[in-house]
Amino acid sequence: MEIIILPTPAEVGVAAAEAIARVVARKSDAVIGLATGSSPLNIYAELAGRVAADELDFSQTSGFALDEYVGIPLDHPQSYHSVIRTEVVEPLRMDPERVHVPDGRATDIEAACAAYEQAIRDAGGIDIQILGIGGNGHVGFNEPSSSFASRTRIKTLAPKTRADNARFFDSPEQVPTHCLTQGLGTIMDARRLVLVAQGEKKADAVAAAVEGPVASSCPGSVLQFHEHATVIVDEAAASKLRLADYYRYTYANKPDWQL
Ligand code: F6R
Repeated sequence: MEIIILPTPAEVGVAAAEAIARVVARKSDAVIGLATGSSPLNIYAELAGRVAADELDFSQTSGFALDEYVGIPLDHPQSYHSVIRTEVVEPLRMDPERVHVPDGRATDIEAACAAYEQAIRDAGGIDIQILGIGGNGHVGFNEPSSSFASRTRIKTLAPKTRADNARFFDSPEQVPTHCLTQGLGTIMDARRLVLVAQGEKKADAVAAAVEGPVASSCPGSVLQFHEHATVIVDEAAASKLRLADYYRYTYANKPDWQL
């Protein structure tokens, strides 16, 4: 796992955007795994700037969202359908037909989840997956105790996750209790993972994911088993990492051929 510590959230966004830009530059029809929430917003803003400057073209790329709430209308401003459209598809000028979000309104949830897995396979698999991490260590909405082999499925959101996400809703009760999420097995199938985290509130989860035992009590720790996982954090989110100096040293001495 590569761990990059940068001074500010803005620099985290630029570095992660650069990793995505490199993939798209090599493969114009790359398949990108899309996270929602606050953590990736700097990434999308940086990429949108490059698209506006005609330095990058996402028109041939495909996207797969990590997750979606169950039980809110598609056009609810906080449905991930809406969020992905306004934060990602429009600013990055992606083709809406190529961007997929799990169907949280499906009556046959199992079939909808199986269809999502099939759509990812049909697209050739995810080339680069953007991830945030929850304060409780979740990635996607794979809450603690999620199986490392899990595929896209319905999950109950942890009380902490609902409380954390209440900021996006008018009241805490409005945060849905359930979601559909790519499984940890689905996420681990992506060819590259880029996890970003900013702020002190993420410091414990980052330390557990990066330096703790690999355990389903911290779902993010599964990244330790991925061949190409990069964790990019600001100083505050890195503040509980025991080996922070070592990560700074390896990043400062990264060979050019690895960039
Ligand atoms: C979002 C997602 C979640 C978030 C996590 C952190 O699609 O899958 O794992 O990345 O809850 O959320 P923020 O970035 O809002 O702190």
